Amino acid sequence: MPTTFLVDCDTGIDDALALSYLACRDDVEVAGIVSTGGNVPVDAVHRNNLALAELLGLTVPIARGADQALVEPPMYADDTHGPQGLGHAVLPEPSRAGDPRSGAQLWVDLARERPGELVGLVLGPHTNLALALEIEPELPRLLKRLHIMGGAINHRGNTGPTSEWNIAVDPEAAQRVLTEFATALRLPVLGALQATEQIVFTATELERLEHLAAADSHPVARILADAVRFYFEFHRADGFGWTAHVHDPLVTAHAVTGEFASTRPLAVDVELAGTLTRGQTVGDELGRWGREATVELLTAVRSAEFVEHLLTTLETGLR
Ligand code: RIB
Ligand code: CA
Repeated sequence: MPTTFLVDCDTGIDDALALSYLACRDDVEVAGIVSTGGNVPVDAVHRNNLALAELLGLTVPIARGADQALVEPPMYADDTHGPQGLGHAVLPEPSRAGDPRSGAQLWVDLARERPGELVGLVLGPHTNLALALEIEPELPRLLKRLHIMGGAINHRGNTGPTSEWNIAVDPEAAQRVLTEFATALRLPVLGALQATEQIVFTATELERLEHLAAADSHPVARILADAVRFYFEFHRADGFGWTAHVHDPLVTAHAVTGEFASTRPLAVDVELAGTLTRGQTVGDELGRWGREATVELLTAVRSAEFVEHLLTTLETGLR
């Protein structure tokens, strides 16, 4: 039986790699996609999701999320992902319209239609999942599991000194999600920066994507190669050299296979009031709060094994 996912993403270069990976897997069914503003504004994310899903053969409901975060003023990462969100890639105009429902309503409807079956995968800010919890407070008990790329636990941030992008864009939403899902049937899996930054694409991986694209293969191969090349240019400009940190696919592949990392329980909450630390995900390693764990944190990442798995899956599926 395939695992059924709802993917909530701010596509984005690594989101596109994750969506492509899911589309290449025979053991995965994508039931729906929610477009959340983050790397680029929500309309650019939505266009990317509609165009990419069509090219990937994902004929599923794709719903546009909210215009902005619950409280935090809008911020975007077009320096990192390009003005349209997929670097140098040029995508065709989607021929299908998005689902008329809101992103939050799509979360609720799909979870109600498939109680206990749907796995949530959040690869961007938590805005629309938080709004879905307002519609359906039972969501944590309707979903089979939730997997999140986000946060930095006792690790430097990539957005503020202590904050990671997906949390920093909408800290109130992230806190609401972690609080409500602490009562879920199984704790959410959290792939934070200390795990996902171990996934580093080198020139070798970029060359493999370029080679796949040059082989007149699937149109998405060219899109991924052109997007990832932009990502390398950003990382080089940001002082990381000719490489790229690829965050979303690790959390996605672990959600599909249970492989490439282990997990450990930890009580995690989100700082909202800190003048210097707003948006920080704080992990209570010593149990000072006396609270139950709220997440299963990804640890012990097997990065080389994962990178090979990701590239091989794309090279096999995007032919
Ligand atoms: O901090 C990395 C995360 O922020 C990734 O999901 C990336 O796509 C951006 O959304
Ligand atoms: Ca993302």
